[in-house]
Amino acid sequence: MQTFIQQLTQVLGQKYILTQDQDKAPFLTDWRKRFSGKALAIVLPASTTEVARIVQLCAEYRIAIVPQGGHTGFCGGATPDSSGNQIVLNLKRMNRIHGVDIANQTITVEAGCILQAIQENAAAQGFLFPLSLGAEGSCMIGGNLATNAGGTNVLRYGNARDLCLGLEVVTAKGEVWNGLKGLRKDNTGYDLRDLFIGSEGTLGIITSAVMKLYPLPISQWTTLVATENVSATIALLNLFQKRATSLLTGFEMMTQESLALNAKHFPQLKNPLGDKTPFSILIELSDHESEAHVRQLLEGILEEAFAADIITDAVIANNLAQANTFWHMREHITLAQAEEGANLKHDITIPLSSLDKFISETDALMRSKFPGVRIINFGHLGDGNLHYNIAPPEGVDQKVFNLTYEKAIHELVYGQVERFHGSISAEHGVGQLKLADLRAHKGNVAHDLMKSLKQALDPQNILNPHKVVSI
Ligand code: FAD
Ligand code: MLT
Ligand code: ZN
Repeated sequence: MQTFIQQLTQVLGQKYILTQDQDKAPFLTDWRKRFSGKALAIVLPASTTEVARIVQLCAEYRIAIVPQGGHTGFCGGATPDSSGNQIVLNLKRMNRIHGVDIANQTITVEAGCILQAIQENAAAQGFLFPLSLGAEGSCMIGGNLATNAGGTNVLRYGNARDLCLGLEVVTAKGEVWNGLKGLRKDNTGYDLRDLFIGSEGTLGIITSAVMKLYPLPISQWTTLVATENVSATIALLNLFQKRATSLLTGFEMMTQESLALNAKHFPQLKNPLGDKTPFSILIELSDHESEAHVRQLLEGILEEAFAADIITDAVIANNLAQANTFWHMREHITLAQAEEGANLKHDITIPLSSLDKFISETDALMRSKFPGVRIINFGHLGDGNLHYNIAPPEGVDQKVFNLTYEKAIHELVYGQVERFHGSISAEHGVGQLKLADLRAHKGNVAHDLMKSLKQALDPQNILNPHKVVSI
């Protein structure tokens, strides 16, 4: 091991290889504090050449590598195991923005760029980089691509995969694949870019990417709308899809129970619709014509929704500050959950046509089998993505509750997801958290194909082993 560390030192210099416990600690526990591991070293490269050299050394010494960006992932993908034999390869020093290509409407960035820095750089040049999520101040684009992150703009612009035109990746052999072409069409055989996106560091290490940009909208209008139930909410979504078409850029649902958790931990965040509203829906329209045009459109759709008895109340944000308070309310549910304890999260998608039935059946099963539980149900309803989370009954210790019921609760939810032809991971990935669940629910053929790919691309199993799929 000493020789390995010495050789690493020759590549990076001592300063960028952390081996002391106090220096390693900040890299070893995930954001939700669900996973903690140990590491031989934390390694901080500054270039693709350095990443390639590190991987070559790891291949030679058979040392496993855990790639890491902002460490905000929800499935423990970037947390090492407890052996102390793995290295964490954190990409935060690779944070250069290579530039915007105005004619091609793209931005080329290194993997360690913070998502918000990319948004800001693009905006300064008149462009929108639409990937947007609560962790955008600390997650990194390499992590976003490795998890195929979603967020709040997916219904209009797609997820991280849809926004990516090219990648540079260091393979398990330590070779560099340069796929940074930025093409919108390229049918030259297998799509390697799509293979690495969403692979959570198990097939290669993403070092740079070419991402799509869009024109910045001239005006955005945000409204909070009250509905009585899921079927009315879906009718409302369909109405907005029909009338606003591509101007609809956000459609988020929050239940009364999830906002009650906000009220408990962040009482300053008041719901303008009142705390008895069964479903609060946050809707955003983005327009390229004029403020008057979008405001008129929004008011017209809301009038139609009132007339059709789909909604019971609505508040339109008067200015950016008020719109931001609506979004804060939505984003704080995750933070309120973190304050509450290690909630049981299920990040699922269900076809919108079955969502109503899924929720009513699953809620009923959950409440009858686990009386008193709080169902913290919210999400990106516009793309069928629900965050179906379970908190213990008020006053019950979360850790004790999880120890006793976690497995049974996951089984209930994932069983229902399978029955309704959904997915057990819509946007958060698999990591170590859902390794066994993926095995159980992906289907044998798909799971075997995934194993074959892993074996072919990483035969020594040194890239993030026992995450996503075990070989
Ligand atoms: P990390 O957590 O560091 O890593 C995630 C996975 O990617 C790991 O498996 C890691 O090994 C791998 N990886 C990281 N970098 C690389 C690389 N360069 N090459 C290869 N593999 C790599 N997610 C959503 O999808 N939608 C949301 O709305 C959303 N909201 C969130 C809100 C909050 C408050 C928080 C804390 C998290 C949220 N997340 C959300 C989850 C998380 O932010 C995303 O999964 C994000 O994409 C992870 O990026 P990261 O840089 O933190 O990756
Ligand atoms: C969100 O939509 O806010 C994120 O995915 C985080 C979460 O699920 O808590
Ligand atoms: Zn989400």
